[in-house]
Amino acid sequence: MTCEKEFIMKISMGFLVLTGIVHPGCSKDALQKELSKDNGVKNVQVLADTGKVLQFANPNVIIGAAVNVKLLATDGIYRDLVKKQYNSISPENAMKMINLQPQEGNFDFSDKTIENVALDFGKKRIHGHTLVWHRGLPNWVKNLETTTLPNGTTRAQQMDSILSRHIRTVIANYDNPASIYKDNNGKPLLKSWDVVNEALDDNGDYRATQNISNGEDKGSIWYRTIGKSYVQKAFTYARKAAEAQGDTDLKLFYNDYGHEYSAKKLDSIYKMVMALKQITFNGKPIIDGIGMQFHININTSLANIKNALIKMKSTGLLIHIAELDISLNKPGLPFSAAALDAQKQKYKDVAMLYRKYVPANQRWGITLWNVGDKDSWLTYTSNTQVDAACLFDLDYGQKPAFFQFYDGLNLDIPASY
Ligand code: G3I
Repeated sequence: MTCEKEFIMKISMGFLVLTGIVHPGCSKDALQKELSKDNGVKNVQVLADTGKVLQFANPNVIIGAAVNVKLLATDGIYRDLVKKQYNSISPENAMKMINLQPQEGNFDFSDKTIENVALDFGKKRIHGHTLVWHRGLPNWVKNLETTTLPNGTTRAQQMDSILSRHIRTVIANYDNPASIYKDNNGKPLLKSWDVVNEALDDNGDYRATQNISNGEDKGSIWYRTIGKSYVQKAFTYARKAAEAQGDTDLKLFYNDYGHEYSAKKLDSIYKMVMALKQITFNGKPIIDGIGMQFHININTSLANIKNALIKMKSTGLLIHIAELDISLNKPGLPFSAAALDAQKQKYKDVAMLYRKYVPANQRWGITLWNVGDKDSWLTYTSNTQVDAACLFDLDYGQKPAFFQFYDGLNLDIPASY
């Protein structure tokens, strides 16, 4: 707190939600240009850079960010921040099925941005995201349910073979022993995968029935065609693929959101991962860890976060806070100094709770979902800056939350947690 008083307030012009209709086809680039205009809606409060670096805040907590390959290639400020602040990177979209297997059987690994950034910037860890999801699918998969089946094949068999080939091929690519993307011990830079993402809904049931909203299915084609065994199959294929490449260290995660707001979902995730933990391949459990996304907001209950961390930790698996962002956007709470204060405090709280309740040997780290409000998926989704959920702002200035998060990683943990 003491040095915070010394920080210079660079910009604090208040906040107004952008007015005007943004057409559905409006591109992210166009939106960002719009947001960057000096129209009185400038950035939130930013503070002077004191040289603090998140990746060095605590040697026992690896800090990552979801990164955007286009921005890494085109935005020097963004690239420099990624280089400086994090020691782990998750591809925000680049390793989703829609990008890696855009046509059936045609795998596209030509974009090496993630690997090159990881290698060039101090051999950062890569966390793979994601092998199996009901979203991020290419059209050829989305449309499969209505196609004619090859003779003698059931839909379940067809989808199972697609699932297994995708996992095997993608894992083999990043685990290729001949790859140049290695750490100092000769091991692959990609050390972990979200194998299955968001299999469960908020009631703790498997996502199933097709339910299209804004062009996205909230149900799961994998469940509808294969049944709930698709989860276990996916983890088994992943472990098998890693072992086939001689990688005995690859960490396999189940990643989801809502642990902190749905008790039913928390319980279902617990039961599911405990069941997966009992299943082995070559004598090794097919699951290693749990991704707790934590797309939360300034009103999220700390007691719920604590409870969720304690329950997930009790599985004995690795715990990755995998997609952290803390939105200001709560109905009835307009953007204000109080909201910013609540945000910075919550960033600190999350870091403290993680350190207090997850022992160092179960920590896979904390990954921020996006670097700044400029590249945040929330800015893109809502077409406004109302969420302002990240540690850096629209110009990649450091927000108050940045310093509090740093302190949460770095300072002694008060007994009040
Ligand atoms: O790249 C295309 C562009 O060519 C096209 O013109 C434009 C028009 O819609 O779309 C662009 O793709 C978008 C892509 O982001 C890149 O910006 C997709 O439509 C859009 O759906 C996609 O959204 C991503 C979303 O996952 C769905 O894949 C977000 O960036 C990404 O942050 C978000 O991340 C998810 C995690 O994977 C899982 N957990 C929740 C998290 C937030 O939703």
